[in-house]
Amino acid sequence: MHNIDIDLIEMTLDIIKHVIHRITERNPAIGRFRSEKDLEAEVGETITPGGIGGERALHLWKTILSKATARIDHPRHLAFVPASPTRAAVMFDLVTSAASVHGAYWMEGAGGIFAENQAMKWIVSLTGLPEGAFGVFTSGGTTANLSAIVTAREHWRSRDKANADKKGIIISSSGAHSSVKAMAKVIDAEIILIDLEDKMTGGDVRKCIAQLPEDQRSRLFAVVATGGTTNAGIIDDLESIARVCKEQQLWYHVDAAYGGAALAVDAVKHLFKGIEEADSITIDPHKWLFSPYDCGAVIYRNPALAKKARAQEGSYLDIFKDKDADGFNPSDYQIQLTRRVRGLPLWFSLAMHGTDKYTAAIERGIQLAHIAAAKIKKLPYLELVREPGLSCVLFRRKGWEPADYSHWTFHNLDKGFALVAPTKWRQNKITETVTRFCFINPDTTEEDIDAILRTMA
Ligand SMILES: Cc1ncc(COP(=O)(O)O)c(C=O)c1O
Repeated sequence: MHNIDIDLIEMTLDIIKHVIHRITERNPAIGRFRSEKDLEAEVGETITPGGIGGERALHLWKTILSKATARIDHPRHLAFVPASPTRAAVMFDLVTSAASVHGAYWMEGAGGIFAENQAMKWIVSLTGLPEGAFGVFTSGGTTANLSAIVTAREHWRSRDKANADKKGIIISSSGAHSSVKAMAKVIDAEIILIDLEDKMTGGDVRKCIAQLPEDQRSRLFAVVATGGTTNAGIIDDLESIARVCKEQQLWYHVDAAYGGAALAVDAVKHLFKGIEEADSITIDPHKWLFSPYDCGAVIYRNPALAKKARAQEGSYLDIFKDKDADGFNPSDYQIQLTRRVRGLPLWFSLAMHGTDKYTAAIERGIQLAHIAAAKIKKLPYLELVREPGLSCVLFRRKGWEPADYSHWTFHNLDKGFALVAPTKWRQNKITETVTRFCFINPDTTEEDIDAILRTMA
C-alpha cells in the first residue's frame, strides 16, 4: 500500500473546495486585469528551489491572481465571444487531467477517444454532412481552420503535380474571422478578401473569380465562408457559395466556430442551408457548446483527405499503425500530435444532460439577443444598429464618441460589474464605433441586460 501523503490529500481537498466554490458562487465579481508590475509587487517570486508550498500557491491564486482575470462565464460578460462551460464539463475537465490520457492514437487513448467520438458524432449530425463525414477536436477555431485549409491545399496539390510548388490562393470575405487570414499566412497562401458589409453570396465569389487574371485563377484552391461572423452573427449564403465551389472545383470550408452550435436550434437551422455541401467545417465547443477551453472541432466531408494530408511518420510511431492497434487516431486529422482528449468534458456533459438541454441553452442565447434588441428599441438614448444575428446584438449610444465607449467599458469592469466592449460597424461605407452583446451564458437574465443598459443612460 502507498504511504498516505497527508499534504497531498489536504491540497486535493482544498483545490476541490475551491473549484466547487468557483462554479457555484452567486453574484461573483467579474475580475479585472492588473499591471504586471502590480502583480509582481503583490505576488512576489513563486518559483523557488524549495517551492512555496501548495497552500501558499493556492492562496495566491484565490486571493490575487484569479481576481486579476476576467470570468469569461460571468452572466454579464457579453463581450467578444464569451463562454459558459457547464458545471458537469468543468468537473470532468478535472477527470480528464487526472486520467492522463494521451489522445493522439487509439492504441493509447481508445476509451477516451471513443467517448470524444460519440460527442463528435452528434456535432457532425447537426451539419447534415453525408455518411462518412467525421471530425476531430482541436485546441480551438484557429487550429481547426488551419487543419482544414492544410487539407484543402494538399488536396489541390495532389490533383495536379504542377501545383506542388505554387502558392495557393483562398477567397474569403472581410467578415471572416482574423484567424482565417492568419492561418493563410501560416501556410504561405494568398488570401483575397471580398469587401462586403453583409453576407457573402455565391454571386460575390463568382464575380471575384471572374476578375482574377489567369495566373491567380489557376492557383485558387479554396473558399472560406462564415457560419456566423464573430462581430455580428452574419451567416454567409452558404448554399449559393457551395454551388460556385462545386462548379469551379474549389474546396469549400465553412468557419462556423461561433455560430455552428445554432445548427441545433430548429428555428434558425435553415439559415445554414448549404453547410451540408461543405468539404470542411469548424465548430467550437468552447464557444457555444458549453465546453471548457480548449475545445474546437474540425469536421471533414471526406476524412481520408485530412489523413492523407498530415499523418505523421516516424519509426517510434509505427506500432500505432499495427493492425492490432487499429482505430481512430486523432493525430491524423489535425495539426497536433500529443493532445489531451479535450472532447471528453463535452462528452460527459452531453451524456449527463442530453442534447435537448443543449438545444434549449443555445436557443436561450438567441432569445436573449431578441429580448435585448426589443429593450434597446424602447430606450430613447440607444439605437439598434441591425436586427440580431444569432446571439449578437449591435447597438449605438446616441451622441457617444469612440472614447465614451472605451471609458464605459473600463468603468463597468473597474466596478466588477460587467464586461461589454465596443466594436466597429460599417454601413454605406461609413465605419462607426458601436457596442455589442454576444449572448452565450443561458444564466444571463433580463435584469442583467436592463442593468447594463442603464449604465449607458
Ligand atoms: C468565426 C470564428 N472563427 C475562428 C475563431 C477562432 O477561434 P479560437 O479563438 O478558438 O482559435 C473565432 C473566435 O472567436 C471565431 O469567432
